[in-house]
Order: sequence, then structure tokens, then C-alpha cells
Amino acid sequence: MYNKLLKNNEIRFSVAPMMDWTDRHCRAFHRVLTRHAVLYSEMVTSAAIVHGDREHLLSFDGCEQPVALQLGGSDPRELAEAARIGEDFGYGEINLNIGCPSDRVQSGRFGACLMAEPALVADSVAAVQTAVSVPVTVKCRIGIDDQDEDAGLQHFVETVAAAGCSTFIVHARKAWLDGLSPAQNRDVPPLNYDRVYRLKMSRPDLRIEINGGIASLDECQEHLKFVDGVMLGRAAYQMPWTLADVDRRFFGALDGLADRFEAVEQFYPYIRHQLDRGVFLSRMARHMLGLFHSQPGGRVWRRHLSENTHKPGAGLDVLKDALDMVRAAARPAIAAE
Ligand SMILES: Cc1cc2nc3c(=O)[nH]c(=O)nc-3n(C[C@H](O)[C@H](O)[C@H](O)COP(=O)(O)O)c2cc1C
Repeated sequence: MYNKLLKNNEIRFSVAPMMDWTDRHCRAFHRVLTRHAVLYSEMVTSAAIVHGDREHLLSFDGCEQPVALQLGGSDPRELAEAARIGEDFGYGEINLNIGCPSDRVQSGRFGACLMAEPALVADSVAAVQTAVSVPVTVKCRIGIDDQDEDAGLQHFVETVAAAGCSTFIVHARKAWLDGLSPAQNRDVPPLNYDRVYRLKMSRPDLRIEINGGIASLDECQEHLKFVDGVMLGRAAYQMPWTLADVDRRFFGALDGLADRFEAVEQFYPYIRHQLDRGVFLSRMARHMLGLFHSQPGGRVWRRHLSENTHKPGAGLDVLKDALDMVRAAARPAIAAE
């Protein structure tokens, strides 16, 4: 299914890589909501994969496919080795992080600071491509600091594309590496969607996907007039029900979930399996807190999960009780109609 999604003339919808958020349980939940979105891992450094606990860092459930592994690093040989290990674990795409602005990442010389080193990114792409057979993609910004958003981005993309990368996911704002926190760097530098559209116009042969500040599927639809794909981050995580309409809207699916209650119930088998493996309910439930966002009962749902899923022995009953509470909270609203 994954390669079908990467065919040149087909659009792609993805959920962004987000540290501490898009872990395996989050992805399993998102997969209940959409069969077609590509799901990204959190960023994992190549050094951690090569030298650390691979099973812990990389293992996932087959139900999450198609899943892309995002790597952070700047040593082409180490990246290639990490990518090969990732492919063995079953990831269907290797994505290089050239957009993350955090200090920790800068000191390791990877992430957004590599926008200033296109030749090194090109070498990394070439090395990774030699090591794996799955697609290799790059997630970047439109620039960093005082880089020229036109010439700088064009040079970066041309150089990396010449090394064989044909898919770029572009967060449509600069990263300012001095003085802004990572969170501020996701909001403060202004968005420039037009720059990403122009990148696509200048290189129609490349797949250009857009990311940053996209709040709804209506907005996605608008972007897709100009680019090949959209990537949603915070909106998908904080309002996961947004994902429930992706398959119908963008991939021609005729079926889908009836409502949010069904989404939770369809997640039960996965949760049961994980509880049997000794995973705490809270590890999974934390990704579901926003499911009833701005719905009647949304607050009750969030509170019941926050207060109860971490308790020893917490199981599916906590979720069933929470759903009952949401139904009860929603009843006065329905009765009043
Ligand atoms: C909590 C959090 C963690 C993030 N971690 C990563 C990461 O590991 N790798 C990455 O490329 N981007 C990371 N990002 C950035 C997102 O992938 C995305 O580019 C950014 O949030 C803008 O998209 P949005 O406005 O749709 O959220 C993170 C964002 C958030 C909110």
C-alpha cells in the first residue's frame, strides 16, 4: 500500500513525526481512524539505533503500516547503517530530519542547521539510498536564520535532489536557530506557503509536500491544488477525529467509522493485546485525550482518562466508563434539540 501512495501522480496525506507524541501506540490509534495516511515515527538518532536498544526504539505493530522512520544524524555511514536496520524492522520509508531546531539537535550537528550544509545532506541521502530499497525522503524548512528563502531553499533542494531524493516535505516557515525555543520555532517564524508552491512549480518532477500550521482537511484540500501532499502535525494529534474523514475525502473510501465511540471500540483489541504485554493503559490513552475535542462530554472524557488510566491495573473498563460518561453528558444537548 505504501508504494502505491508514493506513485508520482497520487497525493499523500501524512501525520508528522512528533517527539514524545507519535510513538507506536499513537500510530496504532491513528491507524484506527485512517487506513491511508502515512504515519511517521518520532525522530530517532542514527547513533541511538546503531549503538542502543533497537528493539525498544524501533519495534512496532504491523497494524500501523504504512509507517515511515524518521532519522536524525549527519554521519552518512551511520545514517545508512541505521536506515538499513530500520528497513529490516519493516519501515516503508526512511525520512531525514533537516527541520528540527532544538539545541540538543544543533550540538549534534543535525536537524535544521543542516539546511546550511546541502552537500552533506546530499551525501547522507546517497549513502542511505545505497543501503535500503525503500524510498528516502527529506523533511526540511524553507530556510534558517538569514538564509534567502528563495535562492537558499532552491540550492538546498537542487543539491539534495541531484543525490537521488525525489520527495521533500517542507515545513513552510524558517527555523531561527538563535533565541527561539523549539515550540516557538513552530509558531513564530511566519508561514510562507507560497514559497512551497513555487518550489513545486520550479521542479514539477519532484514530489513536494507541505507542512506547517494546517488546521483542517478543508485547508489540506486547498494546498493539494498546488502540491503533492500534506502533512498534519498538531491538528492531527490534538484533534485526532480530523483523521477519520481522510480516507473518504482524499482516497475515495466509501466506508468509515460511524462516530468517535466506534473509534474507541475498534481500538480495544490493540489495547487488550498491549495490556497483556504489560503496557500501562495510560501509555495508549494519553493519545486519545483529544478525541472528543469541542464535543459535548469532551471535558469529562479527558478528565476521566487523565485521572484513571495510570492507576495500577487500569484496563478497558476505564475507557468503557468514560464513554458512558460522554454519552450521559451529551444527552441533555440532544434532548434540548
Ligand atoms: C511535540 C512535537 C514534537 C515534534 N517532533 C518532531 C520530530 O521529531 N521531527 C520533526 O521533523 N519534526 C518534529 N516536530 C515538528 C512537526 O513535525 C511539524 O513539522 C510541526 O509541528 C509543524 O506542523 P503542524 O503545524 O501541522 O504541527 C514536532 C512537533 C511537535 C508539536
